Amino acid sequence: MAALPKGPVWNVRFREPGAVDNFPQTMFHGRIDLSPDQAVVELGESPLAQLVIVSNRVAIPDKTAKLRAGGLEVAVNAAFKNRSGIWFGWSGKVTTRTKIATREVVHDKVTYITLDLSKEDHQEYYNGFANRVLWPILHYRIDLAEFSRRDLSGYLRVNDHFARELHNVLGPEDIVWVHDYHLMPLAKALRERGHKNRIGFFLHIPCPPPEMLTALPHHERLIPSLCEYDLIGFQTGDDAFNFSRYLTRECGLHSHDFNFMVGERTVRVDVFPVGIETAAFARLAEGSERLPFAQKVLKSLAGRALIIGVDRLDYSKGIAHRLAAFERFLHTHRDWRGKVTYLQIAPESRTEIPEYAEIAQGIGAAAGRINGAYGEADWTPIRYVSHAYSRATLAGLYRGARVGLVTPLRDGMNLVAKEYVAAQNPYDPGVLILSRFAGAANECKEALLVNPYDSDSVAAAIGEALAMPLPERRARHKAMFEVLSRNDIQSWADRFLSVLQREPARSTLLYQI
Ligand code: G6P
Repeated sequence: MAALPKGPVWNVRFREPGAVDNFPQTMFHGRIDLSPDQAVVELGESPLAQLVIVSNRVAIPDKTAKLRAGGLEVAVNAAFKNRSGIWFGWSGKVTTRTKIATREVVHDKVTYITLDLSKEDHQEYYNGFANRVLWPILHYRIDLAEFSRRDLSGYLRVNDHFARELHNVLGPEDIVWVHDYHLMPLAKALRERGHKNRIGFFLHIPCPPPEMLTALPHHERLIPSLCEYDLIGFQTGDDAFNFSRYLTRECGLHSHDFNFMVGERTVRVDVFPVGIETAAFARLAEGSERLPFAQKVLKSLAGRALIIGVDRLDYSKGIAHRLAAFERFLHTHRDWRGKVTYLQIAPESRTEIPEYAEIAQGIGAAAGRINGAYGEADWTPIRYVSHAYSRATLAGLYRGARVGLVTPLRDGMNLVAKEYVAAQNPYDPGVLILSRFAGAANECKEALLVNPYDSDSVAAAIGEALAMPLPERRARHKAMFEVLSRNDIQSWADRFLSVLQREPARSTLLYQI
Protein backbone atom coordinates (compact mmCIF):
# COMPACT_ATOMS: atom_id res chain seq x y z
CA MET A 1 0.00 0.00 0.00
CA ALA A 2 1.36 3.42 -0.94
CA ALA A 3 2.26 5.60 2.04
CA LEU A 4 0.56 8.95 2.61
CA PRO A 5 2.80 12.00 2.42
CA LYS A 6 4.24 12.76 5.84
CA GLY A 7 3.68 15.77 8.08
CA PRO A 8 0.73 17.98 8.83
CA VAL A 9 -1.11 19.02 5.73
CA TRP A 10 -2.73 21.90 7.50
CA ASN A 11 -1.84 23.61 10.70
CA VAL A 12 -5.00 25.35 11.81
CA ARG A 13 -6.22 24.83 15.32
CA PHE A 14 -8.77 22.04 15.54
CA ARG A 15 -11.27 22.21 18.31
CA GLU A 16 -14.38 20.62 19.60
CA PRO A 17 -17.43 21.23 17.44
CA GLY A 18 -19.09 24.44 18.54
CA ALA A 19 -21.77 26.81 17.47
CA VAL A 20 -21.46 28.55 14.13
CA ASP A 21 -20.44 32.16 14.52
CA ASN A 22 -22.32 35.07 13.13
CA PHE A 23 -22.34 33.76 9.57
CA PRO A 24 -26.00 34.16 8.79
CA GLN A 25 -27.54 31.18 7.06
CA THR A 26 -30.40 33.22 5.73
CA MET A 27 -28.01 35.45 3.82
CA PHE A 28 -27.68 32.67 1.31
CA HIS A 29 -31.27 31.71 0.87
CA GLY A 30 -33.63 32.77 -1.79
CA ARG A 31 -33.10 34.22 -5.18
CA ILE A 32 -30.07 36.23 -6.10
CA ASP A 33 -30.66 39.91 -6.52
CA LEU A 34 -28.71 40.73 -9.64
CA SER A 35 -29.72 44.36 -9.62
CA PRO A 36 -27.80 46.52 -12.06
CA ASP A 37 -26.24 48.67 -9.36
CA GLN A 38 -24.50 45.75 -7.70
CA ALA A 39 -20.90 46.44 -6.91
CA VAL A 40 -19.10 44.43 -9.55
CA VAL A 41 -15.58 45.67 -9.80
CA GLU A 42 -14.02 46.06 -13.23
CA LEU A 43 -11.05 43.86 -13.89
CA GLY A 44 -7.96 45.87 -13.16
CA GLU A 45 -5.54 43.60 -14.90
CA SER A 46 -1.85 44.22 -14.94
CA PRO A 47 -0.48 43.95 -18.48
CA LEU A 48 1.63 41.06 -17.27
CA ALA A 49 -1.27 39.13 -15.79
CA GLN A 50 -2.82 36.24 -17.58
CA LEU A 51 -5.64 34.02 -16.54
CA VAL A 52 -4.64 30.45 -15.75
CA ILE A 53 -7.55 28.04 -15.55
CA VAL A 54 -6.96 24.60 -14.14
CA SER A 55 -9.46 21.77 -14.38
CA ASN A 56 -9.33 18.01 -14.62
CA ARG A 57 -10.68 18.02 -18.16
CA VAL A 58 -9.57 20.41 -20.85
CA ALA A 59 -11.49 20.94 -24.09
CA ILE A 60 -9.05 21.84 -26.84
CA PRO A 61 -11.01 23.40 -29.70
CA ASP A 62 -11.49 21.15 -32.70
CA LYS A 63 -14.10 20.55 -35.36
CA THR A 64 -16.40 18.71 -32.95
CA ALA A 65 -16.11 21.38 -30.24
CA LYS A 66 -19.37 23.09 -31.13
CA LEU A 67 -21.20 19.78 -31.10
CA ARG A 68 -19.99 18.67 -27.69
CA ALA A 69 -19.55 21.92 -25.64
CA GLY A 70 -20.21 20.65 -22.12
CA GLY A 71 -20.91 22.92 -19.15
CA LEU A 72 -17.28 23.35 -18.11
CA GLU A 73 -16.17 24.16 -21.63
CA VAL A 74 -18.81 26.86 -22.03
CA ALA A 75 -17.88 28.27 -18.63
CA VAL A 76 -14.15 28.37 -19.30
CA ASN A 77 -14.67 29.90 -22.73
CA ALA A 78 -16.70 32.66 -21.07
CA ALA A 79 -13.81 33.33 -18.70
CA PHE A 80 -11.42 33.66 -21.67
CA LYS A 81 -13.82 35.84 -23.67
CA ASN A 82 -11.90 39.07 -23.04
CA ARG A 83 -8.74 37.63 -21.60
CA SER A 84 -5.74 35.64 -22.69
CA GLY A 85 -4.19 32.84 -20.76
CA ILE A 86 -3.65 29.17 -20.16
CA TRP A 87 -6.08 26.29 -19.73
CA PHE A 88 -4.27 23.53 -17.92
CA GLY A 89 -5.31 19.97 -17.03
CA TRP A 90 -5.49 16.30 -17.93
CA SER A 91 -5.37 15.39 -21.62
CA GLY A 92 -7.99 12.66 -21.13
CA LYS A 93 -5.32 10.11 -22.11
CA VAL A 94 -3.98 7.32 -19.96
CA THR A 95 -0.48 6.22 -20.82
CA THR A 96 1.62 3.19 -20.02
CA ARG A 97 4.83 5.11 -20.62
CA THR A 98 6.98 5.96 -17.63
CA LYS A 99 7.81 9.46 -18.89
CA ILE A 100 4.58 11.46 -18.76
CA ALA A 101 4.06 13.78 -21.71
CA THR A 102 2.96 17.41 -21.46
CA ARG A 103 1.46 18.95 -24.61
CA GLU A 104 0.94 22.56 -25.53
CA VAL A 105 -1.45 23.85 -28.20
CA VAL A 106 -2.27 27.50 -28.90
CA HIS A 107 -5.67 28.62 -30.24
CA ASP A 108 -6.45 32.32 -30.43
CA LYS A 109 -5.51 33.85 -27.09
CA VAL A 110 -5.43 30.61 -25.14
CA THR A 111 -2.59 28.15 -24.61
CA TYR A 112 -3.87 24.66 -23.79
CA ILE A 113 -1.42 22.67 -21.70
CA THR A 114 -2.38 19.08 -21.04
CA LEU A 115 -0.79 16.14 -19.25
CA ASP A 116 -1.40 12.45 -19.66
CA LEU A 117 -1.99 10.34 -16.60
CA SER A 118 -0.26 7.05 -15.88
CA LYS A 119 -2.57 4.05 -15.42
CA GLU A 120 -1.91 4.11 -11.71
CA ASP A 121 -2.61 7.85 -11.40
CA HIS A 122 -5.80 7.55 -13.41
CA GLN A 123 -7.01 4.69 -11.26
CA GLU A 124 -6.15 6.22 -7.90
CA TYR A 125 -6.78 9.91 -8.55
CA TYR A 126 -9.70 9.92 -11.03
CA ASN A 127 -11.54 6.59 -10.67
CA GLY A 128 -10.55 6.19 -7.05
CA PHE A 129 -10.43 9.19 -4.77
CA ALA A 130 -12.17 11.79 -6.97
CA ASN A 131 -15.02 9.64 -8.24
CA ARG A 132 -15.43 6.88 -5.64
CA VAL A 133 -14.87 8.99 -2.54
CA LEU A 134 -15.32 12.72 -3.11
CA TRP A 135 -18.10 12.44 -5.69
CA PRO A 136 -20.43 10.26 -3.57
CA ILE A 137 -19.72 12.02 -0.28
CA LEU A 138 -20.20 15.50 -1.74
CA HIS A 139 -23.46 14.23 -3.26
CA TYR A 140 -24.66 13.07 0.17
CA ARG A 141 -24.04 9.38 -0.64
CA ILE A 142 -21.68 8.27 2.11
CA ASP A 143 -23.05 4.77 1.61
CA LEU A 144 -21.40 4.58 -1.83
CA ALA A 145 -17.98 5.89 -0.82
CA GLU A 146 -15.12 3.41 -1.20
CA PHE A 147 -12.13 4.87 0.57
CA SER A 148 -8.56 3.61 0.32
CA ARG A 149 -5.38 5.29 1.52
CA ARG A 150 -3.76 4.36 -1.74
CA ASP A 151 -6.32 6.40 -3.68
CA LEU A 152 -5.92 9.40 -1.39
CA SER A 153 -2.20 9.16 -1.87
CA GLY A 154 -2.65 9.04 -5.67
CA TYR A 155 -4.99 12.04 -5.53
CA LEU A 156 -2.44 14.12 -3.59
CA ARG A 157 0.34 12.92 -5.90
CA VAL A 158 -1.49 13.99 -9.08
CA ASN A 159 -2.34 17.36 -7.56
CA ASP A 160 1.31 17.76 -6.69
CA HIS A 161 2.29 16.81 -10.22
CA PHE A 162 -0.12 19.42 -11.62
CA ALA A 163 1.43 22.02 -9.29
CA ARG A 164 4.93 21.06 -10.38
CA GLU A 165 4.06 21.53 -14.04
CA LEU A 166 2.16 24.76 -13.36
CA HIS A 167 5.16 26.06 -11.45
CA ASN A 168 7.07 26.17 -14.76
CA VAL A 169 4.53 28.41 -16.49
CA LEU A 170 3.03 30.57 -13.74
CA GLY A 171 4.02 34.24 -13.65
CA PRO A 172 3.86 36.22 -10.39
CA GLU A 173 0.94 38.38 -11.60
CA ASP A 174 -1.17 35.57 -13.02
CA ILE A 175 -4.66 34.96 -11.71
CA VAL A 176 -5.33 31.27 -11.15
CA TRP A 177 -8.83 29.76 -11.21
CA VAL A 178 -9.10 26.10 -10.22
CA HIS A 179 -12.25 24.10 -10.99
CA ASP A 180 -13.90 21.29 -9.11
CA TYR A 181 -13.35 18.50 -6.64
CA HIS A 182 -10.50 16.81 -8.48
CA LEU A 183 -8.15 19.62 -7.54
CA MET A 184 -8.95 20.70 -3.99
CA PRO A 185 -5.34 20.59 -2.69
CA LEU A 186 -3.83 22.37 -5.70
CA ALA A 187 -3.53 25.82 -4.11
CA LYS A 188 -1.67 24.33 -1.17
CA ALA A 189 0.72 22.54 -3.52
CA LEU A 190 1.30 25.84 -5.36
CA ARG A 191 1.79 27.85 -2.15
CA GLU A 192 4.38 25.29 -1.04
CA ARG A 193 6.29 26.19 -4.19
CA GLY A 194 6.22 29.85 -3.20
CA HIS A 195 3.35 31.13 -5.37
CA LYS A 196 1.62 34.16 -3.88
CA ASN A 197 -0.81 34.66 -6.78
CA ARG A 198 -4.51 35.25 -6.28
CA ILE A 199 -5.94 31.73 -6.55
CA GLY A 200 -9.64 30.97 -6.68
CA PHE A 201 -11.52 27.69 -6.47
CA PHE A 202 -15.00 26.91 -7.72
CA LEU A 203 -16.81 23.76 -6.68
CA HIS A 204 -19.23 22.71 -9.42
CA ILE A 205 -20.85 20.02 -7.27
CA PRO A 206 -22.67 20.24 -3.92
CA CYS A 207 -21.01 20.72 -0.56
CA PRO A 208 -22.79 18.73 2.18
CA PRO A 209 -23.03 19.75 5.85
CA PRO A 210 -20.05 19.14 8.14
CA GLU A 211 -21.83 16.17 9.69
CA MET A 212 -21.34 14.48 6.33
CA LEU A 213 -18.03 16.01 5.30
CA THR A 214 -16.45 14.63 8.43
CA ALA A 215 -17.35 11.11 7.26
CA LEU A 216 -14.64 11.58 4.64
CA PRO A 217 -11.60 9.73 5.98
CA HIS A 218 -8.76 12.24 6.45
CA HIS A 219 -11.12 15.18 5.85
CA GLU A 220 -8.94 17.19 8.22
CA ARG A 221 -6.04 16.82 5.79
CA LEU A 222 -8.04 17.86 2.78
CA ILE A 223 -11.00 20.16 3.42
CA PRO A 224 -9.17 22.84 5.48
CA SER A 225 -6.47 23.00 2.79
CA LEU A 226 -9.05 24.81 0.66
CA CYS A 227 -8.21 27.83 2.82
CA GLU A 228 -5.03 28.20 0.74
CA TYR A 229 -7.30 29.68 -1.93
CA ASP A 230 -8.17 33.37 -1.74
CA LEU A 231 -11.71 32.79 -2.94
CA ILE A 232 -13.81 29.64 -2.60
CA GLY A 233 -16.95 29.73 -4.74
CA PHE A 234 -20.03 27.56 -4.44
CA GLN A 235 -23.14 27.03 -6.53
CA THR A 236 -25.67 27.83 -3.82
CA GLY A 237 -26.01 29.52 -0.48
CA ASP A 238 -26.61 26.17 1.20
CA ASP A 239 -23.30 24.84 -0.14
CA ALA A 240 -21.42 27.93 1.03
CA PHE A 241 -23.11 27.79 4.41
CA ASN A 242 -22.29 24.09 4.84
CA PHE A 243 -18.65 24.76 4.07
CA SER A 244 -18.55 27.75 6.40
CA ARG A 245 -20.03 25.67 9.16
CA TYR A 246 -17.29 23.09 8.59
CA LEU A 247 -14.63 25.79 8.94
CA THR A 248 -16.17 27.03 12.16
CA ARG A 249 -16.87 23.64 13.71
CA GLU A 250 -13.77 21.76 12.68
CA CYS A 251 -11.14 24.47 12.34
CA GLY A 252 -12.33 27.10 14.81
CA LEU A 253 -12.41 29.75 12.08
CA HIS A 254 -14.87 32.61 12.19
CA SER A 255 -16.24 34.75 9.43
CA HIS A 256 -17.00 38.38 9.10
CA ASP A 257 -19.09 39.43 6.14
CA PHE A 258 -18.25 36.29 4.12
CA ASN A 259 -14.54 36.55 4.91
CA PHE A 260 -12.62 34.13 7.14
CA MET A 261 -9.39 35.18 8.79
CA VAL A 262 -6.86 32.36 8.41
CA GLY A 263 -3.65 33.47 10.10
CA GLU A 264 -2.69 36.67 8.31
CA ARG A 265 -4.75 35.89 5.24
CA THR A 266 -8.37 36.49 4.40
CA VAL A 267 -10.27 33.72 2.66
CA ARG A 268 -13.51 34.65 1.07
CA VAL A 269 -16.45 32.27 0.67
CA ASP A 270 -19.05 33.32 -1.85
CA VAL A 271 -21.87 32.09 -4.07
CA PHE A 272 -21.71 32.00 -7.87
CA PRO A 273 -24.57 30.01 -9.39
CA VAL A 274 -23.21 28.81 -12.73
CA GLY A 275 -25.26 29.86 -15.75
CA ILE A 276 -25.56 29.05 -19.43
CA GLU A 277 -25.28 31.06 -22.64
CA THR A 278 -28.96 31.87 -22.31
CA ALA A 279 -29.50 34.07 -25.36
CA ALA A 280 -27.30 31.96 -27.64
CA PHE A 281 -28.95 28.74 -26.52
CA ALA A 282 -32.41 30.18 -27.13
CA ARG A 283 -31.34 31.14 -30.67
CA LEU A 284 -29.81 27.71 -31.23
CA ALA A 285 -33.02 25.98 -30.14
CA GLU A 286 -35.15 28.13 -32.40
CA GLY A 287 -33.12 27.02 -35.41
CA SER A 288 -32.57 23.45 -34.25
CA GLU A 289 -36.21 22.49 -34.02
CA ARG A 290 -36.17 22.50 -37.80
CA LEU A 291 -33.08 20.27 -38.12
CA PRO A 292 -33.88 17.07 -40.02
CA PHE A 293 -33.07 14.81 -37.07
CA ALA A 294 -35.13 16.79 -34.54
CA GLN A 295 -37.97 16.88 -37.07
CA LYS A 296 -37.74 13.13 -37.55
CA VAL A 297 -37.92 12.49 -33.80
CA LEU A 298 -40.83 14.89 -33.28
CA LYS A 299 -42.69 13.44 -36.23
CA SER A 300 -42.20 9.92 -34.92
CA LEU A 301 -44.20 10.87 -31.82
CA ALA A 302 -47.32 10.95 -34.01
CA GLY A 303 -48.85 13.84 -32.08
CA ARG A 304 -48.02 12.48 -28.63
CA ALA A 305 -46.68 14.83 -25.96
CA LEU A 306 -42.95 14.52 -25.39
CA ILE A 307 -41.40 14.39 -21.93
CA ILE A 308 -37.63 14.67 -22.02
CA GLY A 309 -34.87 13.78 -19.57
CA VAL A 310 -31.17 14.24 -20.42
CA ASP A 311 -28.50 13.22 -17.95
CA ARG A 312 -25.02 11.82 -17.81
CA LEU A 313 -25.63 8.30 -16.46
CA ASP A 314 -24.92 8.83 -12.78
CA TYR A 315 -26.62 7.72 -9.57
CA SER A 316 -26.89 11.36 -8.46
CA LYS A 317 -29.26 12.07 -11.34
CA GLY A 318 -32.09 9.95 -9.90
CA ILE A 319 -32.95 8.28 -13.21
CA ALA A 320 -34.24 5.10 -11.55
CA HIS A 321 -36.49 7.15 -9.25
CA ARG A 322 -37.68 9.12 -12.28
CA LEU A 323 -38.63 5.96 -14.15
CA ALA A 324 -40.54 4.81 -11.09
CA ALA A 325 -42.36 8.16 -10.99
CA PHE A 326 -43.25 7.88 -14.67
CA GLU A 327 -44.55 4.39 -14.06
CA ARG A 328 -46.63 5.78 -11.20
CA PHE A 329 -47.92 8.48 -13.55
CA LEU A 330 -49.01 5.86 -16.10
CA HIS A 331 -50.68 3.93 -13.34
CA THR A 332 -52.61 6.88 -11.91
CA HIS A 333 -53.30 8.88 -15.12
CA ARG A 334 -55.01 6.32 -17.35
CA ASP A 335 -56.16 9.01 -19.77
CA TRP A 336 -52.60 9.79 -20.73
CA ARG A 337 -51.71 6.23 -21.67
CA GLY A 338 -50.89 6.12 -25.35
CA LYS A 339 -50.71 9.92 -25.53
CA VAL A 340 -47.30 10.64 -24.09
CA THR A 341 -43.73 9.52 -24.78
CA TYR A 342 -40.91 9.86 -22.29
CA LEU A 343 -37.50 10.14 -23.96
CA GLN A 344 -34.62 9.55 -21.59
CA ILE A 345 -31.18 10.27 -23.01
CA ALA A 346 -28.47 9.03 -20.64
CA PRO A 347 -24.95 8.69 -22.11
CA GLU A 348 -22.79 6.35 -20.11
CA SER A 349 -19.96 7.80 -18.06
CA ARG A 350 -17.18 6.65 -15.69
CA THR A 351 -17.78 3.13 -16.90
CA GLU A 352 -14.74 1.68 -15.12
CA ILE A 353 -16.37 2.41 -11.77
CA PRO A 354 -18.55 -0.49 -10.53
CA GLU A 355 -21.42 1.68 -9.20
CA TYR A 356 -21.84 3.19 -12.69
CA ALA A 357 -21.93 -0.17 -14.46
CA GLU A 358 -24.58 -1.33 -11.99
CA ILE A 359 -26.94 1.60 -12.53
CA ALA A 360 -26.63 1.25 -16.31
CA GLN A 361 -27.99 -2.28 -16.02
CA GLY A 362 -30.70 -1.40 -13.52
CA ILE A 363 -32.07 1.51 -15.53
CA GLY A 364 -32.15 -0.41 -18.81
CA ALA A 365 -34.03 -3.23 -17.08
CA ALA A 366 -36.55 -0.85 -15.44
CA ALA A 367 -37.31 0.90 -18.75
CA GLY A 368 -37.87 -2.50 -20.41
CA ARG A 369 -40.14 -3.67 -17.62
CA ILE A 370 -42.31 -0.52 -17.70
CA ASN A 371 -42.57 -0.67 -21.47
CA GLY A 372 -43.59 -4.32 -21.22
CA ALA A 373 -46.25 -3.57 -18.62
CA TYR A 374 -47.80 -0.44 -20.16
CA GLY A 375 -46.77 -0.41 -23.83
CA GLU A 376 -48.93 -1.41 -26.74
CA ALA A 377 -48.00 -2.77 -30.14
CA ASP A 378 -48.26 0.79 -31.49
CA TRP A 379 -46.89 2.71 -28.47
CA THR A 380 -43.66 2.54 -26.45
CA PRO A 381 -44.02 4.71 -23.33
CA ILE A 382 -40.26 5.10 -22.66
CA ARG A 383 -37.53 5.57 -25.24
CA TYR A 384 -34.24 5.00 -23.51
CA VAL A 385 -31.07 6.03 -25.33
CA SER A 386 -27.59 5.63 -23.85
CA HIS A 387 -25.52 7.70 -26.23
CA ALA A 388 -24.88 11.43 -26.50
CA TYR A 389 -26.45 13.87 -28.95
CA SER A 390 -25.06 17.13 -30.24
CA ARG A 391 -25.88 20.37 -28.51
CA ALA A 392 -28.00 21.49 -31.46
CA THR A 393 -30.02 18.27 -31.53
CA LEU A 394 -30.66 18.50 -27.80
CA ALA A 395 -31.70 22.13 -28.12
CA GLY A 396 -34.23 21.18 -30.83
CA LEU A 397 -35.57 18.27 -28.75
CA TYR A 398 -35.91 20.44 -25.65
CA ARG A 399 -37.94 22.92 -27.64
CA GLY A 400 -40.21 20.20 -28.93
CA ALA A 401 -40.80 18.69 -25.47
CA ARG A 402 -43.91 19.59 -23.49
CA VAL A 403 -42.17 18.65 -20.24
CA GLY A 404 -38.54 18.77 -19.13
CA LEU A 405 -38.05 16.20 -16.39
CA VAL A 406 -34.98 17.09 -14.32
CA THR A 407 -35.11 15.23 -11.03
CA PRO A 408 -31.62 14.63 -9.63
CA LEU A 409 -31.37 13.34 -6.08
CA ARG A 410 -28.64 15.92 -5.58
CA ASP A 411 -26.96 18.21 -8.11
CA GLY A 412 -24.61 21.15 -7.83
CA MET A 413 -26.55 23.18 -10.39
CA ASN A 414 -27.92 21.14 -13.34
CA LEU A 415 -27.55 23.01 -16.57
CA VAL A 416 -30.04 20.79 -18.44
CA ALA A 417 -32.78 22.49 -16.42
CA LYS A 418 -31.54 25.91 -17.50
CA GLU A 419 -31.08 24.86 -21.12
CA TYR A 420 -34.57 23.39 -21.23
CA VAL A 421 -35.99 26.75 -20.13
CA ALA A 422 -33.83 28.73 -22.56
CA ALA A 423 -34.84 26.47 -25.45
CA GLN A 424 -38.58 27.00 -25.12
CA ASN A 425 -40.75 28.90 -27.53
CA PRO A 426 -41.84 31.83 -25.31
CA TYR A 427 -45.31 31.85 -26.90
CA ASP A 428 -45.93 28.16 -26.29
CA PRO A 429 -43.41 26.99 -23.72
CA GLY A 430 -43.11 23.59 -22.13
CA VAL A 431 -43.02 23.06 -18.37
CA LEU A 432 -39.94 22.30 -16.32
CA ILE A 433 -40.30 19.76 -13.51
CA LEU A 434 -37.28 20.24 -11.31
CA SER A 435 -35.89 18.55 -8.23
CA ARG A 436 -35.71 20.79 -5.22
CA PHE A 437 -32.27 19.22 -4.62
CA ALA A 438 -30.73 20.70 -7.78
CA GLY A 439 -28.89 24.00 -7.37
CA ALA A 440 -30.93 25.32 -10.30
CA ALA A 441 -34.04 25.26 -8.09
CA ASN A 442 -32.85 28.50 -6.44
CA GLU A 443 -33.19 30.38 -9.71
CA CYS A 444 -35.91 28.35 -11.43
CA LYS A 445 -38.49 28.93 -8.76
CA GLU A 446 -41.34 28.91 -11.28
CA ALA A 447 -40.61 25.32 -12.26
CA LEU A 448 -42.78 22.64 -10.70
CA LEU A 449 -40.43 21.86 -7.83
CA VAL A 450 -40.55 18.27 -6.65
CA ASN A 451 -39.03 15.87 -4.18
CA PRO A 452 -37.49 13.21 -6.47
CA TYR A 453 -37.76 10.57 -3.75
CA ASP A 454 -41.53 10.92 -3.69
CA SER A 455 -42.76 9.22 -6.86
CA ASP A 456 -46.41 10.08 -6.13
CA SER A 457 -45.65 13.80 -6.11
CA VAL A 458 -43.47 13.58 -9.23
CA ALA A 459 -46.25 11.64 -10.99
CA ALA A 460 -48.74 14.33 -9.95
CA ALA A 461 -46.38 17.05 -11.25
CA ILE A 462 -46.16 15.28 -14.64
CA GLY A 463 -49.95 15.31 -14.82
CA GLU A 464 -50.07 18.97 -13.80
CA ALA A 465 -47.39 19.94 -16.33
CA LEU A 466 -49.15 18.19 -19.21
CA ALA A 467 -52.44 19.87 -18.36
CA MET A 468 -51.08 23.33 -17.55
CA PRO A 469 -52.92 26.15 -19.34
CA LEU A 470 -51.00 28.33 -21.79
CA PRO A 471 -51.09 31.60 -19.78
CA GLU A 472 -49.60 29.88 -16.74
CA ARG A 473 -46.92 28.21 -18.84
CA ARG A 474 -45.99 31.53 -20.38
CA ALA A 475 -45.86 33.37 -17.07
CA ARG A 476 -43.66 30.70 -15.47
CA HIS A 477 -41.33 30.56 -18.46
CA LYS A 478 -41.00 34.34 -18.69
CA ALA A 479 -40.02 34.67 -15.03
CA MET A 480 -37.37 31.97 -15.30
CA PHE A 481 -36.00 33.15 -18.63
CA GLU A 482 -35.47 36.63 -17.19
CA VAL A 483 -33.47 35.30 -14.27
CA LEU A 484 -31.38 33.05 -16.53
CA SER A 485 -30.72 35.92 -18.91
CA ARG A 486 -29.44 38.14 -16.12
CA ASN A 487 -27.25 35.45 -14.59
CA ASP A 488 -25.83 33.98 -17.76
CA ILE A 489 -22.47 32.28 -18.03
CA GLN A 490 -20.64 35.46 -18.99
CA SER A 491 -21.79 37.37 -15.93
CA TRP A 492 -20.95 34.32 -13.80
CA ALA A 493 -17.35 34.20 -15.09
CA ASP A 494 -16.87 37.97 -14.90
CA ARG A 495 -18.23 38.16 -11.39
CA PHE A 496 -16.03 35.34 -10.08
CA LEU A 497 -12.92 36.89 -11.59
CA SER A 498 -13.74 40.37 -10.37
CA VAL A 499 -14.23 39.14 -6.79
CA LEU A 500 -11.05 37.06 -7.03
CA GLN A 501 -8.98 39.98 -8.25
CA ARG A 502 -9.89 42.55 -5.72
CA GLU A 503 -8.77 42.74 -2.15
CA PRO A 504 -11.28 41.27 0.30
CA ALA A 505 -14.26 43.54 0.82
CA ARG A 506 -17.97 43.05 0.93
CA SER A 507 -19.94 40.53 -1.08
CA THR A 508 -21.27 41.48 -4.46
CA LEU A 509 -24.31 39.27 -4.07
CA LEU A 510 -27.34 40.25 -2.11
CA TYR A 511 -29.82 37.59 -1.13
CA GLN A 512 -33.43 38.08 -0.33
CA ILE A 513 -34.32 36.53 2.97
C1 G6P B 1 -19.58 16.88 -13.39
C2 G6P B 1 -18.35 17.48 -12.77
C3 G6P B 1 -17.31 17.82 -13.83
C4 G6P B 1 -17.07 16.61 -14.71
C5 G6P B 1 -18.37 16.13 -15.32
C6 G6P B 1 -18.20 14.90 -16.22
O1 G6P B 1 -20.29 17.84 -14.08
O2 G6P B 1 -18.67 18.62 -12.01
O3 G6P B 1 -16.11 18.23 -13.22
O4 G6P B 1 -16.11 16.89 -15.70
O5 G6P B 1 -19.25 15.81 -14.27
O6 G6P B 1 -17.59 13.85 -15.53
P1 G6P B 1 -16.22 13.20 -16.01
O7 G6P B 1 -15.84 12.29 -14.88
O8 G6P B 1 -16.54 12.49 -17.27
O9 G6P B 1 -15.24 14.32 -16.21
